[in-house]
Amino acid sequence: MKQPFFLLLFLLAGFLSSFPSQADEITVYSHRHYPSDDVLFAKFTEQSGIRVRVVKAGADELIERLRAEGDNTRADVLLTADAGRLHIAKSADLLLPLESETLTERIPEAYRDPDNTWFGFTLRARVIIYAKDRVNPNELSTYEDLADRKWRGRLLARSSSHIYNQSLLASLIAAHGEAEALNWARAVRRNLIRAPQGNDRDQMRSVARGLADVAIVNTYYLGLMHNSPDPQDRELAGRLAVFYPNQDGRGIHVNISGGGVVKASRHPEQAQKFLEFLVSEEAQKTFPQTTSEFPVLAGVELSDLQKSWGDFKADTLNLGKLGELNVTAVRLFNLSGWE
Ligand SMILES: [Fe+2]
Repeated sequence: MKQPFFLLLFLLAGFLSSFPSQADEITVYSHRHYPSDDVLFAKFTEQSGIRVRVVKAGADELIERLRAEGDNTRADVLLTADAGRLHIAKSADLLLPLESETLTERIPEAYRDPDNTWFGFTLRARVIIYAKDRVNPNELSTYEDLADRKWRGRLLARSSSHIYNQSLLASLIAAHGEAEALNWARAVRRNLIRAPQGNDRDQMRSVARGLADVAIVNTYYLGLMHNSPDPQDRELAGRLAVFYPNQDGRGIHVNISGGGVVKASRHPEQAQKFLEFLVSEEAQKTFPQTTSEFPVLAGVELSDLQKSWGDFKADTLNLGKLGELNVTAVRLFNLSGWE
């Protein structure tokens, strides 16, 4: 007789505890590592009453953790950089398709999943930076041109194991096919002055110090160097300029920082509200000023630094395509000898 009673009590306790105490808090698994995100999330809490608990780790680790936790996860939102990674999370069936007019109306089609599982909220431009004192921008034109012999020993780029380069190569595969993309990777590797090492900022520091003339990097890192607490980084950044390639063709290669609601989330509505907040005008206008990322929402003002780089036209290829082509890009990089 006693057992069903205790069982009922147990279920009731579980029911009560899963409701009011947790519904006002969401857990965000974030690969982003900017202090400004905390400020932004606090604004969301202020407006919605929903607290944001952030778990920070690398993207691969967070995706692995979501896989392992399955239905028992406490995560409600996954935030990361690069559509390639979001595609991996989607392919692993970790993300929930959303119906949100706010998200689909505010985010251009190219920057969100056609199946509505992930959404970009900032844009990143992977372009060419050059040493102002040694390169005439007239020498520069396209990504394809970086394969030309004239850049032999003048070029720097990070390792091909990084997803930013894999997504760039995926965009070249989409534009030209595998054979040409492989030739490009081979030729660009030959033009590198040294075997790839370090991150995007290291490439820029080396260009500023005269090791090479140009590098392939994401522009927000130049913004972070300009705004760095380290005076040396600020000084080095001043020697560099941004070049937007392929302006007469498909446009620059862009990627996103984005996110989705975790499929096993216990607070999908609150999680969706959080993503919607990230594309609000209030949130969008903070990104250029804090992280030097570009907003996805049209009409949002850029930072003075971003304005100084000029306007650009971006490739309109749906970024989901980069995820689909990632495996091919990795294979071609391996064949190319680009470490
Ligand atoms: Fe980055």
